[in-house]
Amino acid sequence: MAKILVTGGAGFIGSHTVVALHEAGHQPIIVDDFSNSDIKVLEGISQITGVSFPFYQIDCNDKNALSKVFENEKNIEGVIHFAAFKAVGESVEQPLKYYHNNVGSLVTLLEIMQVYSVTQLVFSSSCTVYGNPDELPVSEKTPYQNATSPYGNTKVICEQIIKDAAASGQRINAVLLRYFNPIGAHPSALIGELPLGVPNNLVPFITQTAAGWRAQLTVYGNNYNTADGTCIRDYIHVVDLAKAHIAALGWAEKQRPSVCEAFNIGTGKGNSVMEVIKTFEKVSQTSLNYRIGQRRQGDVETIYGNVDKANQTLNWEAKYSLEEALTHAWKWQNELEEQI
Ligand code: WQD
Repeated sequence: MAKILVTGGAGFIGSHTVVALHEAGHQPIIVDDFSNSDIKVLEGISQITGVSFPFYQIDCNDKNALSKVFENEKNIEGVIHFAAFKAVGESVEQPLKYYHNNVGSLVTLLEIMQVYSVTQLVFSSSCTVYGNPDELPVSEKTPYQNATSPYGNTKVICEQIIKDAAASGQRINAVLLRYFNPIGAHPSALIGELPLGVPNNLVPFITQTAAGWRAQLTVYGNNYNTADGTCIRDYIHVVDLAKAHIAALGWAEKQRPSVCEAFNIGTGKGNSVMEVIKTFEKVSQTSLNYRIGQRRQGDVETIYGNVDKANQTLNWEAKYSLEEALTHAWKWQNELEEQI
């Protein structure tokens, strides 16, 4: 039973990880500033777990406020750091906002962890550090590529900051989880993906189009060098992704002080945009209104992960299929319908 601070704990992946922490017998403490999440998520977490977890509405760049959480919550044993902006397109328009928030909040957190001798850190990284990979599937040894956006660059920079902190002798056992494409929702449909405004990502745009919230899905290009011409991604169920954080904490606590290790967290399989659309139509028994449009700038043609290292070292693997993830995403969308 470890006390674990979850920054961004009201977010899509953060909220599912809070549930997974509770189910694994840990004591999550939620920190979130609601800049990209909704306070209603806390209700959903409590409905699933039957527990109201300690919660602090603060910005992780606010060093005094974040320090007070560590002061208040004695004996925090680890931190899972999700709090960051993640809209690729927005990061191109407002890079300084992304460097200030994503990089600044990590440095602030590491400084406070040092003061309070908190040694375990799981960092929310991303496959975006691989850019447009030359080799597939990408493994953790695949070199960083030029990030295709300031957002991606913040993930590369943050990984390097954590590596340097570990190498400097700061007692820290850090795990860098490189997510592929998180999709789906908790099977209860009490929590799920809640993009504020028009969704950037494929699956919420699909479910909102099917629900009539959006007029039509645009497929960003079908002239790529893939079987059906559309881009390929590794779509992983958010509950599988959440459970990878529990496995990462378990591994980190067994390591000697000052390690920093990266793991790909995906299914190891690639699916095209059209395969996702067709699979969604099958599981939802609806016909999706979509058109083929121009390519989206910055899109990677194909990326999916070699996940052997996480399977073997963390004893973790993705269990849900694409069908199940899309079924849960659709159930969640219909739940949202009920709420409005
Ligand atoms: C997937 C595919 C689009 C919307 C995401 C996150 C990023 C990072 C990596 C965590 C692409 C196509 C999309 C639409 C479409 N995650 N698409 N029409 O770009 O892989 O990046 O995962 O760090 O934060 O953004 O995901 O869902 O935006 O796109 O055709 O309306 O779907 O072109 O091929 P992406 P995505």
